[in-house]
Amino acid sequence: MPETETETVSARAGGARARGRTGCALVTGASRGIGAAVARALARDGWAVGVNYRSGADAAAGVVSAIEDEGGRALAVAGDVVDPATPDRLFATLEAEFEHPVLALVNNAGVSDDDLTPSMSDAAWDAVIDTDLSAAFRMMRRALRPMMRARCGRIVNVASVVGLRANPGQPNYAAAKAGLIALTKNTAVEVARRGVTVNAVAPGLIETDMTAQLDGDLLARVPARRAGTPEEVAACVRFLVSEEAGYVTGSVLSVDGGLAA
Ligand SMILES: NC(=O)c1ccc[n+]([C@@H]2O[C@H](COP(=O)([O-])OP(=O)(O)OC[C@H]3O[C@@H](n4cnc5c(N)ncnc54)[C@H](OP(=O)(O)O)[C@@H]3O)[C@@H](O)[C@H]2O)c1
Repeated sequence: MPETETETVSARAGGARARGRTGCALVTGASRGIGAAVARALARDGWAVGVNYRSGADAAAGVVSAIEDEGGRALAVAGDVVDPATPDRLFATLEAEFEHPVLALVNNAGVSDDDLTPSMSDAAWDAVIDTDLSAAFRMMRRALRPMMRARCGRIVNVASVVGLRANPGQPNYAAAKAGLIALTKNTAVEVARRGVTVNAVAPGLIETDMTAQLDGDLLARVPARRAGTPEEVAACVRFLVSEEAGYVTGSVLSVDGGLAA
């Protein structure tokens, strides 16, 4: 966080400091749910935040307004993360608007399309792998060079408890999230010397649109006997993005009421 008057002005103009550098943040899939809560949490820490969305323009505008009402700075940026051209376009837009590199990236955009393995369609497999794994890889690839040049950066990937433990009926989602965790660890080791950290959070059952259709069976398996909130996940992401988390890298932080324990 800013320490001097000059840095405070600079931070308000462009973003928070990560290890002495000023940058902005990008949260994918931030129009609702966990992503919206993460965008708001990072803005409260002084980051100028890119609020990415695919179809929810009004919802994304609402997130930006909420951040601005709290004195923060944000910009809604449309873009389907599955499109390979999206990372360059989003990063260029934010770098131009906030006049700083993206030094915090949260890969949160995700979808599920459940079925058992014997009956799963190619379309359901591809859609989930493309969105939840391949898109995050392309975002990270685009983010890393400026972060390494700045010798600071934070990447947080939103994985899932299903990437750690089996959940019958989600083979595509499990493979994508387990792959995302492996990608997180591998990249973390590659860039650790450059002052860039790469971590994952693994939420359990969180109250969002994604889980609105689920029945109560899953809840009965949660040791805490309740679903989590997007804000509880956002608090963990906020920590991993903070300066204080500089020695935390390649880790997976479960936010699941004990589900993976
Ligand atoms: N909810 C849970 O219990 C839970 C548990 C574990 C992990 N997670 C993970 O947490 C993340 C967020 O989940 P959520 O529950 O908050 O989901 P959600 O409420 O369904 O919201 C999904 C968000 O992702 C965006 N999105 C989806 N596909 C996109 C694409 N191709 N390009 C850009 N944005 C896209 C949506 O944007 P639009 O609305 O604009 O399309 C929306 O903002 C996901 O990665 C999910 O797998 C969730």
